[in-house]
Amino acid sequence: MSRRRTDQMALVAFMQASNVSVFAGSWRWPSSAEDYLDLRYYQRIARTLEDGTFDLMFFDDRLAMPAIYGDSVAEAVRYGARPIKLDLMTVLGVCAGATEKLGLGATYSTTYYPPFHVARSFATLDHLSGGRAAWNVVTSVNDAEARNFGMDVHLGHDARYDRADEFVELVSRLWDSWEDGAIIADRAAGMFADPAKVHELHHRGEFFEVRGPLTVPRPPQGRPPIIQAGSSGRGRDFAAKWADLIFTAAPNLAMAKEHYRDQKERIATLGRDPSKVRMLPMAYVVVGETEAHAKEKEDIFLNQLVDPMASLTLLSELTNYDFSGHALDDEVTDELIDSVSGIRGLVQGVRKSLGDQPLTLRRLASHRATLLQGPRFVGTGDQVAEQMHAWFDEEACDGFVVAATHLPGTFEEFVRMVVPGLRRRGVFRTAYSGTTLREHLGLARPERMPEPAVLAAP
Ligand SMILES: Cc1cc2nc3c(=O)[nH]c(=O)nc-3n(C[C@H](O)[C@H](O)[C@H](O)COP(=O)(O)O)c2cc1C
Repeated sequence: MSRRRTDQMALVAFMQASNVSVFAGSWRWPSSAEDYLDLRYYQRIARTLEDGTFDLMFFDDRLAMPAIYGDSVAEAVRYGARPIKLDLMTVLGVCAGATEKLGLGATYSTTYYPPFHVARSFATLDHLSGGRAAWNVVTSVNDAEARNFGMDVHLGHDARYDRADEFVELVSRLWDSWEDGAIIADRAAGMFADPAKVHELHHRGEFFEVRGPLTVPRPPQGRPPIIQAGSSGRGRDFAAKWADLIFTAAPNLAMAKEHYRDQKERIATLGRDPSKVRMLPMAYVVVGETEAHAKEKEDIFLNQLVDPMASLTLLSELTNYDFSGHALDDEVTDELIDSVSGIRGLVQGVRKSLGDQPLTLRRLASHRATLLQGPRFVGTGDQVAEQMHAWFDEEACDGFVVAATHLPGTFEEFVRMVVPGLRRRGVFRTAYSGTTLREHLGLARPERMPEPAVLAAP
């Protein structure tokens, strides 16, 4: 079985409904737009991405301000280190209204939202957008989020995934609770829909009780595609079971190839077709009119716009560890790494990439200027296209999640300068051939899942 489904890469735009991109200091860049609280900002970017025939505009999320550092939000607010996160369904709704083909994805947490709510939101978006919705399943990261939802501490790592397993299955069944063709709308006979085709679930599981059915008919895509970005062993198994798109954060080509091979094997082991599941590393793209321009820009975003304290604040929230008791020049010891509970892989990855060099907190924090690890493709449009093509060719990925230095500029530049190079190389579409996100991704519309063997009595 081929691991790769196509010679065409998938492109996803990594978006934030926020005052900043993934670069914590991006709000200070002179051409960053300031109208991120206005619907036209998101609509403008969505149209740009559709012009560039992107598969998907995808928004990340976090359900709290960064508040782990010093047990306070003061630094996040002061430095603009992502204190703003808008509600994503509203944002995607306005983007749906401004576009016709672009896929629209949002992050929703299985730890803090109820399944019925998530199923209903994405089914609604899928209908209103004509089959363009996608759900990024996350289990969330830290205690600050827990405290906004009536809990003291975030659930343990594997317990979060157990809950997520039941959650995604339940959401899938809710999407399937109306059979296709259930609505008859026979005005003369007064028969709206066939009750035999709309099913209650009576789900009683370990974590949830839901009667159903959903109040939204079966979505145009059947079930909107699932995105997942688990990188731990448990996370990779979860992604192998459920995901249509898998986002990764591999810092270099060798690690990306290894992750690609491992993840596709896990998918095949579960009896799914690995060529139908796209693996997409997050890539930082810095494109310039000349190579020197691009490199200068990279330096400004990485080193000059972001205050080390802002980076440390964001590092604390991602690792769920309060670094305020340490000085910036303290060494990050193995013991310290062991006490980190959030995205521990991030710290281990930085540690590994530095080899024998000592890792100070300042140095670790500086990696936080770019949120997660991932390749940086820097240069002219053609150079960036060439670097992306090389990763794709090496079976390190099936496309990319393109992260922006600044908005909307990065995506305007990418569409103008990089997309033509990818098209010339024959690895990216010149026009959409379908209208739904599943069609862009070459994924069939799924049949309804079989009814569970044993339903609890109503
Ligand atoms: C491109 C990308 C985007 C992500 N977006 C989010 C997000 O919006 N919210 C979130 O809580 N986690 C996000 N994550 C983190 C993952 O959901 C996951 O927690 C992380 O990769 C660690 O994997 P693990 O849970 O298996 O340890 C993202 C990861 C990647 C690579």
